[in-house]
Amino acid sequence: MTKPRVFITRVIAQEALDKIAQATEMEVWPEELPPPYEVLREKARDAEGLVTLLSDRVDAALMDTAPKLKVVSNIAVGYDNISIAEATKRHIVVGNTPGVLTETTADLAFTLLMAAARRVVEADNYTRKGRWKTWGPKILLGQDIHNATLGIIGLGRVGAEVAKRGRGFNMKVLYYDEIRRSEEEERQLGVEYIPELAKLLSSADFISVHVPLLPQTRHLIGAAEFALMKPTAVFINTSRGPVVDQRALYEALKSGQIFAAAIDVTEVEPISPDDPLLALDNIIITPHIASASFTTRKNMALMAAENLLAGLRGKTPPTCVNPEALRS
Ligand code: DGY
Repeated sequence: MTKPRVFITRVIAQEALDKIAQATEMEVWPEELPPPYEVLREKARDAEGLVTLLSDRVDAALMDTAPKLKVVSNIAVGYDNISIAEATKRHIVVGNTPGVLTETTADLAFTLLMAAARRVVEADNYTRKGRWKTWGPKILLGQDIHNATLGIIGLGRVGAEVAKRGRGFNMKVLYYDEIRRSEEEERQLGVEYIPELAKLLSSADFISVHVPLLPQTRHLIGAAEFALMKPTAVFINTSRGPVVDQRALYEALKSGQIFAAAIDVTEVEPISPDDPLLALDNIIITPHIASASFTTRKNMALMAAENLLAGLRGKTPPTCVNPEALRS
């Protein structure tokens, strides 16, 4: 019996590749950079399954040239790189990797929060550049984290883990979300619901964004929102770049409207080396590494392998974002 053809857009954990290799005829894109769109489209032509990353666009045009495609298994919890409605129409199931990266992502959000508040990257550069001459009472002063107010936008899986980390630092934790948690969950997490985003923005010392990229969250944070924040505020984004108007973020940082920011995602990825944001000292920008721990990346790949193999067997993947694709 011939095995189904599968294309994997990057070299992923060997354990996951071994699992996939047993049941499929797989091809792995060997390069660090993603396959160009036209190459991916070509590779998808005969494939029954694709394993993709968030930098691989899987749209209607690609699916139109892939008549055998049954499953797209994305190694990410977010799936804004895939046209889900188009996949569903074509009975293609799409898998993602929720859960396994939650705490690792929250760890990075909190790392960024602390690093921006205490100017860790700037201080390290200061030392390396030979500028450390003495202990100075006014050198590299930052914002206190303990006892401060943390405002979380989007209290989903990652947001809730960030809340726990904040509570560990004795922070008062406020949250804004479209959907309110139950009283019991709020009590357990030690968080207070703020029904208006504007109120959260003006009350918090630290603001951390944890929403998916949807039409209604694009530029959720722009000039009007930065204007509401305290001049001492520290802004964190580990969700998706387009949730924030990057120009407005630049203006807010440059003018001192807010104290600092730390972001793991940018409107266009990778950010251009000429982007004006990179000339500012009061921002830290990491290259979309929130889930990048050895263990988590292995677990994400294994989960994606399970999703892929289930989809190839005509089953609903264990973590499927469009189970209705097989029902219609
Ligand atoms: C995700 O999973 O959506 C992250 O952005 C990548 O780790």
